[in-house]
This record gives sequence, C-alpha cells and structure tokens, in this order.
Amino acid sequence: MTTPSSAPAGKPTLASRETFSTRKLFILSAIGSAVGLGNIWRFPYIAYDNGGGAFLIPYLAALLSAGIPLLFLDYAVGHNFRGSAPLAYRRLHRGAEVLGWWQVLVCFIIAIYYALIIAWAAMFTWFSVTKAWGDDAETFLLKDFLQVADVPGISFDYVPAVFWPLLVVWIVIIAIMVAGVRRGISRANGIFLPLLIVMFVLLVVQSLFLPGAMDGLNAFFTPNWEALGDPLVWAAAYGHIFFSLSVAFGIMVTYSSYLKRKTDLTGSGMVVAFANSGFEILAGIGVFAALGFMAQSAGTAVDEVAGAGIGLAFITFPTIVSEAPFGAVLGVLFFGTLVFAGITSLISILEVIVAAVQDKSGWNRVKSSLAVCIPVSLISIVLFPTVTGLQLLDTFDAFVNSFGILAGALVAVVLISWVFRKLPVLSAHLNRYSTIKMRKTWMILVGVVSPLVLAFMLYNEFVAKIKEPYEGYPLDFLAVFGWGMAGALVVGAIILTLIPWSSKSKVDDPEYAEIVAREEHEIEDEEATR
Ligand code: ALA
Repeated sequence: MTTPSSAPAGKPTLASRETFSTRKLFILSAIGSAVGLGNIWRFPYIAYDNGGGAFLIPYLAALLSAGIPLLFLDYAVGHNFRGSAPLAYRRLHRGAEVLGWWQVLVCFIIAIYYALIIAWAAMFTWFSVTKAWGDDAETFLLKDFLQVADVPGISFDYVPAVFWPLLVVWIVIIAIMVAGVRRGISRANGIFLPLLIVMFVLLVVQSLFLPGAMDGLNAFFTPNWEALGDPLVWAAAYGHIFFSLSVAFGIMVTYSSYLKRKTDLTGSGMVVAFANSGFEILAGIGVFAALGFMAQSAGTAVDEVAGAGIGLAFITFPTIVSEAPFGAVLGVLFFGTLVFAGITSLISILEVIVAAVQDKSGWNRVKSSLAVCIPVSLISIVLFPTVTGLQLLDTFDAFVNSFGILAGALVAVVLISWVFRKLPVLSAHLNRYSTIKMRKTWMILVGVVSPLVLAFMLYNEFVAKIKEPYEGYPLDFLAVFGWGMAGALVVGAIILTLIPWSSKSKVDDPEYAEIVAREEHEIEDEEATR
C-alpha cells in the first residue's frame, strides 16, 4: 500500500498499518476466530445440559439480542477508530483506554491455556491412529497422559508428552504472528479454515451413519420445555455466546481495524455470526450422533454417556473412537478439527495483544510479535505442561470467562452507552457503508438489554462461586488463580493505561480519525482508478 503524496507532513499515514487485502479474507479470519474450541466441545455439552433442543430458543435469543449487537459494537469501535483495542477505545474516549487493556489481559490469560488444549488435541489426533487409550480412556487421560496430581497448585513436575507438542504449537503460532496480517493471519486462515470445514463435514456425516445415531439426535433435539423457565438456562446461553462469537474481548475490535474503509460492516457481521452458529449446531449434531452410538453399544441412555467439557472431548470421544467402525478415521477427523479450529482462534486472541503492544510502543510488527509471543509462550510452557496443568486451565477458564469477558463487557456497554454516550456516533458509522442499517433497536439492545442480562449473569456467577469453592478446589488455590487472577486483570489494565503512548500512534491528535479517513478514501480512489 502506498502513502498518498497529499498526506500532510508529520501527520499519521496508513503506510504502517496493515489491512486485510479483501473483505472475503476478513470474513474468513473472523469466522476462523469465532469457530474454536468453544464450538466443538463446549456447545454440545452446554446445550445438552440446559434443556437439549429447547436450549436453541435462549441460544437464538442470546445471539440476536446480545451476541450480534455487541459484535457490531466491536466492529464500530475498531473500524471507526482504527486501532488495537486500547488505542481504539482511547480514541473513542480518553477514559475508555482501560477497557482495551482489560481485554488485552483477558486475551493473555486465554492464550496461555488455549494453546494447551490444542497440544492435547494434536496428541489425541495421533493417539487415535492406534487407539492408544485401550479400553479405559479416562484412566489414560488422567493418569497415563496428563498424570494429574491429587492436589491442585503450581508444579514443576513436567509431562514430556504434553511439553513437546505444546512447544511445537507455540513455534507454529509464533511463525504465523511474526508474518503479520496479510502473510500470516490471512494465509493461515485461508489454509486452515477450508481444511477444518471439509474435515468437520466428513466427521458429521460419519457420525450420522453410526448405529444409534438417531437416539443421540433425539436426546439432543427433544426439548425440555421446563428448562425455559429456569433463568440459569438463559444465563448459560448468554454466557456461551460471547466466548463463541469472540465478542467483547478485543478480537473483533482488532480485526475490524484492519478492514478497508468502505466495507459493509453489518453484512459481514451477519455472515460471521450465522456461520459460527451453523458450525456450532452442526457440532451438536455430530457429537450427539456419536454419543447415541456409544449409548447403544453400552446399553445405556444417552444422558449417562454425555460428559462435560474436557471430559466430553478427551474421554467420551476416545471411547467412541475405540468402538465405532472406522473409529481411527473418526478420531483423526475430530481431534484434527479441534487442532485447526484452535489455531485459527488462538492467532486472533494473540493478535489483540500484539496489536496493542505495537500501537503503544511504536515498534514494528516483528519486534512487537516477538515481544508478545516469547513471554506469553514461555509462561504457557512453564505453567501448563505439568501434573497440575489441568486444574490450572480449568480454574483460569472458569474465572476469566465470568470475571474477565462478561464483567469487561458489562463495564464497556455501560460506559459507552451511558457515560460517554457514544452509541449515536457508532451507529452512524455502522450505517455509513452497511447494507443492514442500525437503528434505535440496536442502541436499546446494546444500552439497555445487554447490561441488564450481563448484570444478572454476573450476579449469578458470583453467588455460585462464593457459595461453593469451584470444583471443590482448595480455597487458597482459588484465591490466587481464580479471584486473584481476575482482580489482577483490572489492576494490570490500570497500570498499562498509565504507560505513555509512542508518539507514532498520534493518540491524542483530535484530527486523527478524519485524516485517516481522508487518506483511506484517497488510497481507495487511487486503487479504483488504477
Ligand atoms: N471463539 C473462540 C472459541 O469458540 C474463542 O473457542
């Protein structure tokens, strides 16, 4: 991309900021980010546990009333203010920078454990070939593979079978991140997402042909209408949608900042949101068809074989692989899909941190990527491939989702809507080039419905976690890695906000947005006439 000669001297130029070369690549990357570990093992279990088929009603309500409106909010902030999360929020309002750093730190926590699940999935892809778990997948996972300690805590007792694949995952991820938006992120998504889709479709088809598949689908789709009267079922739907859509933790702010000016934002958002949900529901169908097979083989009901989270993917699924016809193929497809889905999401999570460091420091892409990825990967490699990695992951995941993503989202919508009063500006921005126009309804959903729902959920989460120690873990462990970690995110965000910006970011230049917009128009017009 060239810098127009008309750019005023000393004023910011676009030369240093990369863009996705086409809208298609942006959509592909945004879908790659959204479709992740959350879709493949989290959604089927959450749906099943919260009313089966009836869960689709709160799920769709959550998608339409909070997921998509907040996705558009992220797009509007990132695309209008054209920066990493802290920079874009700072340009939105001086007092909002801290929101961006909070999201950056949430991404830091997610990144360090997300890589671990990808490493496990990579090993299980390999284990599927020989069905290494024999006839007891649970003992294999907990005792043979992870060698889980009885007491959670920090351990330096490393598990080589986890350590080495985790190192390889980080090397691949660092290579992608250093290569940048076009050569790294766009290309990786261009390769991994189509592969992921093909493998996933094959997996679902193979599952549907297993004997007993229909019993699984019946269990999944038979609505338990009573569940709809339970507020916690609705809370589960809203809780899931943010993580699943990659909304409210900086990812979509960052990705949309790499979009060209004249882009149909809301149209792109709809494609991403429905692709993500389509994938998720398909994952439910594939997993439950396989569970139906397992129940039939064991002569039990489907609800007795459906396990939670990690258990569903790494214990129940291996058992199915051992028993199913062409089980090895099923295993390679399932765990391979998890690896690819995980990688395309992890790069988007890391991009939030890299972009923020790049903007704050003024360093180039390579230096910023290395300055972020080396410490993040080292922390991940030191803390997780040990005998206590599983409990640490579980605790980080539970607390960062509630008191990182959801709490951050609540504070953001309240500040943006009611304190800084920026919804009209953001709505006008969304409408500028978009086909689907945002009107009052969007502002009501973001400014009124979302805060109420988020506050209700956080309250429930808080009460639940105070009443009983999470998973029965020791209180001192939870105090440090649960509550302590969540509190550190806020304190860390305040400290990062206080660090001065590089002059290259032109962070306080009031004319910045207009200058950038003008430059972009000029560049696009130039490109169009070329
Ligand atoms: N959206 C990503 C997932 O579902 C983070 O895993």
